[in-house]
Amino acid sequence: LGKYPENTIVQRPIVAAHRGVPSLAPENTMAGYRLAYDLGADMIETDVQLTKDGHLIIMHDLTVNRTTNGTGAVKDLTLDEIRQLDAGSKFSEEFAGEKVPTLKEFLEEFKKKDVILLIELKGAGFEEQVIKEIEDMGMVDQVIIQNFDLGSMIDSFSIKPEIPVGYLYSAAVPATTSAKIKNAQKMLDYGTSNRVTLNASYGSTYQEFITYMRQRGMLTMHWTFRAEEPFRDKLTEGLIGPITDYTQWLTDAPIKI
Ligand code: G3P
Ligand code: CA
Repeated sequence: LGKYPENTIVQRPIVAAHRGVPSLAPENTMAGYRLAYDLGADMIETDVQLTKDGHLIIMHDLTVNRTTNGTGAVKDLTLDEIRQLDAGSKFSEEFAGEKVPTLKEFLEEFKKKDVILLIELKGAGFEEQVIKEIEDMGMVDQVIIQNFDLGSMIDSFSIKPEIPVGYLYSAAVPATTSAKIKNAQKMLDYGTSNRVTLNASYGSTYQEFITYMRQRGMLTMHWTFRAEEPFRDKLTEGLIGPITDYTQWLTDAPIKI
C-alpha cells in the first residue's frame, strides 16, 4: 500500500458477488455462489422469485429461457418443473446439471459462514414469505433484502426491522436531488436509521453523493461493475461497495478512506 501517504487509512472494498461469479460460472447457481465465497466475496447477491406453486427460487430473468435449457415464465412453472432444468450447460458443459437453486438451499449453504447474503426480490408481495425463510434458518443477522420497489422495502421493514434493506436505484442522474434519494431519506425517517443501504448503478455515483449518503448513515453499494477501469476510478473517488460480476479481480483492491 506504499502508494498512499503515511497515516492514510486503507481498507479493501466490500465486494458483493453479483449473481455469484457470472464471469467464471453460470449465474445464480450454487457452483457460482461457492466460487464467490472461495474467492473471498464479502456479500453474495442473488435474485428471488415465486414459482407457480408458491415456492421461492433464485433466478434473475422472469423467464427461464436465457439461463436454462427450458422455456417459460417462472411464475407459470412449478418448483418440480424448474428443478428439472439444467442451469449450467448454457454457460459451459463443465457445469452441466447445475440446478436452479431454491432460496432455502442458498441460505443453508452459507449459514454461519463469513459472508452476507444480499437478497434481491424480483417483484413485490412475497416479503413475508422470504423473511419467514430467513427467520426459520436463524439468519436475520446475515442478510440484506433489496428491491427497486420502495413499497416492498417499507413492507420488509414493517415485518422485520432487524433486517437491513437495500433500496435499489438505477438512474444516472444527480443523486442528491433525485426523488429516489428523498424516498430513501423517508425510510430513515420511518425509523430505519443505519439499516438502509442505497444500492445505486455506479454511473450515478460520485464523491458528493457518497458523502451525502454517509452523513445520513446509509451505506452505498454500487452495481454492476463489469469493467475494471471504472471500478478503479470509482474506488479512487471513495466508493466502498462494488457489486460485480468479477469478484476475482476485486477482493485484493485497497481503497483509501
Ligand atoms: O444488485 C443490484 C443489481 O443486481 C440490480 O440489477 O438487474 O442485475 O438484478 P439486476
Ligand atoms: Ca439482482
